[in-house]
Amino acid sequence: MPTKQTPLPAARPVTPHGILVQQLQQLQTAAEQESVTAQFKADLSQVARLAAGLDPYLEACTTAESTALAQLVKATQQEDWSQRFDDGATVKELEQEMLSGHIEGQFLKMLVAISQAKRVLEIGMFTGYSALAIAEALPKDGLLVACEVDAYAAEFAQRCFSTSAHGHKIQVKVAPAIETLRDLASVGEPFDLAFIDADKGGYIEYVNLLLESPLLTPNGFICIDNTLMQGQPYLDTANRTANGEAITRFNQFLAEDDRVEQVMLPIRDGFTLVKRCSSPFS
Ligand SMILES: C[S@@+](CC[C@H](N)C(=O)[O-])C[C@H]1O[C@@H](n2cnc3c(N)ncnc32)[C@H](O)[C@@H]1O
Repeated sequence: MPTKQTPLPAARPVTPHGILVQQLQQLQTAAEQESVTAQFKADLSQVARLAAGLDPYLEACTTAESTALAQLVKATQQEDWSQRFDDGATVKELEQEMLSGHIEGQFLKMLVAISQAKRVLEIGMFTGYSALAIAEALPKDGLLVACEVDAYAAEFAQRCFSTSAHGHKIQVKVAPAIETLRDLASVGEPFDLAFIDADKGGYIEYVNLLLESPLLTPNGFICIDNTLMQGQPYLDTANRTANGEAITRFNQFLAEDDRVEQVMLPIRDGFTLVKRCSSPFS
């Protein structure tokens, strides 16, 4: 007899595109109550379908995620993340929406494979989706060092890694990332790629440390998540959250930084790729 499945808690939209889809659908519902023309309703319906179809189409056209990654997503959705954690300075809440997911994970895998990175640093691991995706693309002797301040999330992730043949490539450091970065910088074994996806207020310090210490190889590059922060940097300033303010400041900092060149891509909640400027003498 088939067992009844408990539906997984739905994730709220946390990307500019996801929010756009939700708001268009709300407008469609509102338009049903209003005396608008049939043409207006048809146009609105077309716009809503155009927006709503994009993410599922990206998913369908992208290489499927591994079984271990799919299981990690399911376990993350099933967990009650309402308990809070204290990172020493602020109390925050973990939530399933923190997980980066299929498209971003596959994009990171592609970057690791194309760049032939062997040593990767992750700042902000949560339940380990991006960490495991990166590990899957690393060679057998590759290493991902993942920084995570929350011990509960770190243990959760490590349980997920133990089910994957690539989990052994991941080394987890449970501490505020800035402390781990300073320790790693003193060891002198640089990374080919750093992925920043933690506290948004720390982004400028992380990038400065990566560029000014021996943490990054000369051709090493940095990937930064959430640089669109739900559209807040380009929307009205009055409704910005603390994260929205931090990302707005960070994007401005990066745009004015002549040590680096960068590109911002509208993947999920915004993904910026950064590399050192080529030397004029090279
Ligand atoms: C957006 S989640 C990371 C998502 C993950 N990269 C993924 O793909 O699923 C951010 C994580 O950063 C962690 N974090 C926040 N501040 C931190 C800090 N100062 N040092 C280390 N980790 C931190 C949080 O506990 C949270 O788990």
